[in-house]
Amino acid sequence: MARFFFPNSATEHAGKVDALFLGLILISAFYLLLIFAPMAYCLFKYRRGQKADRSAIRIKTWKVEIVWTVVPFLMMIGIFGWGATLYYQVERPPADGLESFVVAKQWMWKIEHAEGNREINELHVPIGQTVKLTMTSEDVIHSFFIPAFRVKQDVVPGRYVTEWFRPMRAGVYHLFCAEYCGANHSLMGGNIVVMPPQDYANWLASGAPLDDLAKSGERLFRDLGCSGCHMGSSVIRAPRLEGVYGKPVPLEGGQVVTANDQYIRDSILLPASQIAAGYTNAMPTYQGRVSEEQLVSLIAYIKSLANKSPPQEETNR
Ligand code: CUA
Repeated sequence: MARFFFPNSATEHAGKVDALFLGLILISAFYLLLIFAPMAYCLFKYRRGQKADRSAIRIKTWKVEIVWTVVPFLMMIGIFGWGATLYYQVERPPADGLESFVVAKQWMWKIEHAEGNREINELHVPIGQTVKLTMTSEDVIHSFFIPAFRVKQDVVPGRYVTEWFRPMRAGVYHLFCAEYCGANHSLMGGNIVVMPPQDYANWLASGAPLDDLAKSGERLFRDLGCSGCHMGSSVIRAPRLEGVYGKPVPLEGGQVVTANDQYIRDSILLPASQIAAGYTNAMPTYQGRVSEEQLVSLIAYIKSLANKSPPQEETNR
């Protein structure tokens, strides 16, 4: 029956989302009947001209009132718990998984795999593996929507949002933009191609670029001159970036932030907004000088340094 009412489902959590939705509909239908059936009965029984007993009732109703307050309250809390549990599962990505970056713009989806492969309006993924997406927009708000995966996430300019899924069935699934974003919004779509792992490996290898994302980030890091201050023996003192990713960073003023994608992005575009403790505001902004794709590879590079430590003479200073 579910097949008749719901779109294709190709992820594990699609069934759970459908169950919640169906649960809400059944509970609503139950209450609809509970309220409207007696109402219809009374309308009929007490219609004009009918000799029904219309004298006032003289019983205490507090017991009834408590029941009809407490029971729906508990049910609502139950529904909240059910929905919240599912929401947390859907919103929190598992630690492992393949990573890809999505940059939305009017009117296309640009996708970069951590391995360096690029695609437009297509995303190839293997069956049974967790796929984590970090997404942003170049212009306006878009929404990344794959009905068959029960995945929908607004993609907002200026910040990173994440989404994850684990496709369980091979096939081609439609990707929509689900936020009106201008004249060609309805054409902004694409395909998610779910392949057996071996086919996916072949696909990755066949289109393999020279550099993965971190490698091209490293090249950019040098080309833009970042390495001048952040690495080597520059006179300008800037924080070393080895081992920074994912760690807490103390800021001037006592605040502590986590060095995640958003922090690195902000540090590149708005360097004055968060100064690392012990440093001065010496870095120029790169707003307008680096594209979203370049930012993504710079972040991938800094992430690749996460398990390295700065050279000895620097730490001993
Ligand atoms: Cu992008 Cu609608």
